[in-house]
Amino acid sequence: MNIVVFFSGTGTNLQSILQNEKKLNYKVISTFTNNPDASGIDISKNFNIDCKILDHKKFDSREKFDEEINIYLQKLNPDYVILAGYMRILSNFLVEKWKQKIINIHPSLLPKYPGLNTHERALLAGDKLHGTTIHYVTSDLDAGPIIRQQSIEIEPDDTIESLTEKIKKLENKIYPETISNL
Ligand code: GAR
Repeated sequence: MNIVVFFSGTGTNLQSILQNEKKLNYKVISTFTNNPDASGIDISKNFNIDCKILDHKKFDSREKFDEEINIYLQKLNPDYVILAGYMRILSNFLVEKWKQKIINIHPSLLPKYPGLNTHERALLAGDKLHGTTIHYVTSDLDAGPIIRQQSIEIEPDDTIESLTEKIKKLENKIYPETISNL
């Protein structure tokens, strides 16, 4: 199973997907980022993976940017497109073209807290549980069919930083496993 991984930042999920590749049932054939400063670019290099860098700021519309992405994906024709901390909303046409093939991981127990600042929102709400969700991408933001969800307890001394770390640790474990079982 050939996959392409999209990221925008630190890339801990990318790293974990790459580290687990040999023992699991997928092959990362390329990576993609919209952010020329993303640490995931170096991670890709370390694993000898070709990383396509396309700075969205150089495009005057989301659609034009996503048209380039579509050309890139059509050349590779992956089985799945894996979003791992990819912080751009995809245009409807791209989601339709790759229907049921784009997977996202989102740091909340969806349908709670779609969008940004999920750890802060869970803390402010006084939630006892928080977690992460792996789901198919549809044209509704963070609302596609759920593939896997896993929770952790929020401790009284948890902060945005501690939750970020705990959730990423959980994601780094379950994302590769879940991809392998697609
Ligand atoms: C992850 O926690 C992921 O769930 C989140 O960004 C983080 C990326 O971490 N994704 C989103 O918020 C998407 N809406 P990473 O760069 O270390 O993998």
